[in-house]
Amino acid sequence: MINLFLLGLPGAGKGTVSEQIVDKYHLTHISTGDMFREAMANETKVGLEAKSYIDKGDLVPDEVTARLVEERLGQPDIKEGYILDGFPRTIVQAELLEEITKKLNKPLTNVISLEVKEDTLVNRLSARFMCKKCGATYNKITKMPKVVGTCDRCGSHEFYQREDDKPEVVKNRLQVNEKMNTPLKDYYQKNGILSVVDGEQTPEKVFESVDAVLSK
Ligand code: AP5
Ligand code: MG
Ligand code: ZN
Repeated sequence: MINLFLLGLPGAGKGTVSEQIVDKYHLTHISTGDMFREAMANETKVGLEAKSYIDKGDLVPDEVTARLVEERLGQPDIKEGYILDGFPRTIVQAELLEEITKKLNKPLTNVISLEVKEDTLVNRLSARFMCKKCGATYNKITKMPKVVGTCDRCGSHEFYQREDDKPEVVKNRLQVNEKMNTPLKDYYQKNGILSVVDGEQTPEKVFESVDAVLSK
């Protein structure tokens, strides 16, 4: 059983490598960012609350985020294992997660820190674009759709840039997330379940490195 937490700054490639992990290991992918974007699109109560933080690049309050994760981890499709992408992001969230997973008897088995230099992160985020219909992620430099203007996954022709990928917001997002990154790494280092992967490699090599950790 693999219960993985992927730790990495904005643009580190958490979403990209999660897709590859799901293909091989059939784990359930839980991205709090994706969940918030869905809630914002549907204008739910959580979505409206989250939007005021996300559009500025700030963190959504710990309690709101943890409640969302607790609910998700309680669903039956978690049985075969899960990937947490972008949660926990603070020590308080890490502690809440420990309580939640203890209650559900689904403790983390691995933490992988995907490490990428700040310059690379900024370049990746400014070049990223998304399919409007299915949310598939592309990149103007490293990952264009196979047929220009058509989503590989759903065939849609409409794309958009995430509000929080605009340059003014990216700066704050990186700062906010950098502050918590080292304390979180230390937290899981002490737990003895942390591995570090070089996220500067090609997506194929990143997955190979992650796969090497998970298949141990
Ligand atoms: P979230 O959606 O999680 O954003 P993030 O952490 O900033 O991470 P990203 O999704 O931007 O990057 P990624 O690592 O997934 O990279 P990707 O694979 O797309 O969260 C958004 C917001 O929600 C937060 O700012 C916060 O407000 C709120 N939130 C979420 N969780 C929260 C929490 N726990 N607590 C409080 N608030 C929370 O790749 C990036 C680009 O690079 C793509 O274009 C991709 O094609 C390309 N790329 C990927 N890998 C490679 C590679 N190896 N080589 C070249 N290009 C690559
Ligand atoms: Mg992501
Ligand atoms: Zn699509």
